[in-house]
Amino acid sequence: MLSARVSLLLGILFLASLSVSLGISHRGHQESQEESDSSGRNNPFYFSSDRSFNTLFKNQYGHIRVLQRFDQRSKQIQNLENYRVVEFKSKPNTLLLPHHADADFLLVVLNGRALLTLVNPDGRDSYILEQGHAQRIPAGTTFFLVNPNDNDNLRIIKLAIPVNNPHRFQDFFLSSTEAQQSYLQGFSKNVLEASFDSDFNEINKVLFGEEQGEESEQEGVIVELKREQIQELMRHAKSSSRKTLSSEDEPFNLRNQKPIYSNKFGRWYEITPEKNPQLKDLDVFLSSVDMKEGSLLMPHYNSKAIVIMVINEGEANIELVGPREQQQQQQEESWQVQRYAAELSEDDVFVIPAAYPVAINATSNLNFFVFGINGENNQRNFLAGEKDNVMSEIPTEVLDVTFPASGEKVEKLIQKQTQSHFVDAQPDEQEKGRFVY
Ligand SMILES: *[C@@H]1O[C@H](CO)[C@@H](O)[C@H](O)[C@H]1NC(C)=O
Repeated sequence: MLSARVSLLLGILFLASLSVSLGISHRGHQESQEESDSSGRNNPFYFSSDRSFNTLFKNQYGHIRVLQRFDQRSKQIQNLENYRVVEFKSKPNTLLLPHHADADFLLVVLNGRALLTLVNPDGRDSYILEQGHAQRIPAGTTFFLVNPNDNDNLRIIKLAIPVNNPHRFQDFFLSSTEAQQSYLQGFSKNVLEASFDSDFNEINKVLFGEEQGEESEQEGVIVELKREQIQELMRHAKSSSRKTLSSEDEPFNLRNQKPIYSNKFGRWYEITPEKNPQLKDLDVFLSSVDMKEGSLLMPHYNSKAIVIMVINEGEANIELVGPREQQQQQQEESWQVQRYAAELSEDDVFVIPAAYPVAINATSNLNFFVFGINGENNQRNFLAGEKDNVMSEIPTEVLDVTFPASGEKVEKLIQKQTQSHFVDAQPDEQEKGRFVY
């Protein structure tokens, strides 16, 4: 009986509920076919929180969800094939059981506090991560994650870069739960007995809880932890909140820096690969952006980074400009501009391809978070405002023949906006009146 069960396990292991399911592929494809209007609903760059995630695991203590594949939404973001976004939420006093995956992870704490422990063959490192902390978890590293707070939920976003497959990765858990089996159970009786130098029944009892009549299996991969257990784990953790960018492998906090852009309408915090070895390895930059209600992040484009934006708090209208989404393979005769607009709210994801201009209108106080893929040496080119504006660097003589009006008139228009990066999204009516008809 047992050996028959064990022989099936290898197969089952990879079909376990925590595999990144293929189920989403079908839907993604359909959506890219339907895309045509710019209202937001069928926008291939817009991933709404309630319709675009696939739940990998869920119980009363939390959930793990993976965003559908980027490359199945649109050919325009085909190069995001090898990137996935994972959301993890857990209740107070819980533990995500030890596991590893065939993917590099870049983990960011959006809300709450986490105790993250990375286990290596020669030791382990525990870190307390606060909101805004980021940490790379190299592929194959066994880790576990505690929400040590008594009241606050923990919310984490992970960028996953799979190793074995361009778009799929697998979590390998040590424990057997109702949700999946321990990967150790995939081994034969002979291998287990010889490796642990123990009787198979003993191994089963200790590691897999398969004693007859005894139901010791956990309910899932997120479990409750006692306060004493958490306190003991916390005692061994390094508080990383004091550190900024010093040590190579330690967590770093995005918000400990000075913002790169800041005025009364908004603040942009950013850490680039040039400044952080963990980000350099992954070639990703991270930003956290606050905007006041009624402010506008002016039109700009990223020179080479593809931006994956996650709304953390608040609401915004986004306008992205790009070529029309092609229905079939067709020869482009003339370049048609399309506006890809969407109304974004909490937990939504939006992708901004490199070179595509974008503007964001905060319709409430807003905080969003950004993974900038291909981030090294990326430049943000603004198209309006005083600073970082590429338009204002074009010489008058060239402006002269670039636009219908004279170069001087164009320059005057460009220079009118004296703010930079963030501005008022609703300039007062009088001001507006002069331009309206
Ligand atoms: C921003 O959104 C508000 C509310 O929808 C709207 O009134 C305002 O005109 C928008 N501003 C811009 C610059 O899009």
